[in-house]
Amino acid sequence: MLDHMITIEGLSKRYGGFVAVDDVSFTCKAGSGTGFLGPTGAGKSTTMRILTGLTPEDSGTAQIDGVRYSDIPNPSTKIGVLLDASAQHAGRTGREILMISALTMGLPTKRVDEMLELVSLTPSESKRRVRNYSLGMRQRLGLANALMGDPEVLILDEPANGLDPAGIHWMRGLLRSYANRGGTVLLSSHLLNEIEVIADEIVVIGQGKIVANGTKAELLSTAGTFVKSLEPDDLLKALVTAGISAEPSGDAGLRTDSTAEQVGRAAAAAGVALVELRAADGAGLEEMFLKLTEPTQRESINPEGVVA
Ligand SMILES: Nc1ncnc2c1ncn2[C@@H]1O[C@H](COP(=O)(O)OP(=O)(O)O)[C@@H](O)[C@H]1O
Ligand SMILES: [Mg+2]
Repeated sequence: MLDHMITIEGLSKRYGGFVAVDDVSFTCKAGSGTGFLGPTGAGKSTTMRILTGLTPEDSGTAQIDGVRYSDIPNPSTKIGVLLDASAQHAGRTGREILMISALTMGLPTKRVDEMLELVSLTPSESKRRVRNYSLGMRQRLGLANALMGDPEVLILDEPANGLDPAGIHWMRGLLRSYANRGGTVLLSSHLLNEIEVIADEIVVIGQGKIVANGTKAELLSTAGTFVKSLEPDDLLKALVTAGISAEPSGDAGLRTDSTAEQVGRAAAAAGVALVELRAADGAGLEEMFLKLTEPTQRESINPEGVVA
């Protein structure tokens, strides 16, 4: 596969006075999955709709290899798109929808059957109208549609929504091998766990703004140090005295960006006994996600995901 790159730069979109997407910039490179993470209403779908030419932006650019989606000839053979699965033409059968795609792309009928098999939709399911599909079936159909033209770029909005655990596992494998072959994958989710397993790069959006962006390893490493004492007030005082800022974490613990040694010395200097002192674990990313997307906290957080 070729090295395709999605580049979003200074993208903004308003609905009336409401800013849905606010100066969003990030890139999505070939050979890795980029997870676009944010709570419901954060602006993920709007960004992806602009990227795929369905919603006009107010300012900024969203391009694939330096070209707008709508300026790419036969985009569906190069870019597989799955947008909000509930927005599919409900009156048609799954098979009809795929047939139309195949015809549009000049692909043989055989390809429709291959795709149905790939996403595990049975022949009888494929003959039912989409309005009678479960959300999981719609997602499978949407994925079949996105993969039909054997594209090198995938843009998937909440693809795991409605899939059962087995379906999510299957999709992970599919996207992983796709990225490993050099494909470019942008997928959104409102669930950290989903993104964590599939994506190498994570872009976090909250209230229209990008609030964190980095590799999964980078974002996990910002988890810092977890510390706990049976005298939490004394511990907090000891840390503050030592110039260490900390925030509540987990069950009556504190999380800081300082090292375990700095925290341990500060506690020792104040004579505070610790019951736990360790690297903050994966839950740190979860806390960060929650914190980053809290409206009141949002302004005080820098792009590295550290509370200022
Ligand atoms: N067509 C629209 N008209 C008015 N507001 C919209 C429209 N589309 C999206 N919004 C608003 O923009 C915000 C972002 O929505 P969306 O991009 O769908 O978020 P997400 O996909 O992250 O859940 C939400 O507050 C939503 O209500
Ligand atoms: Mg959405």
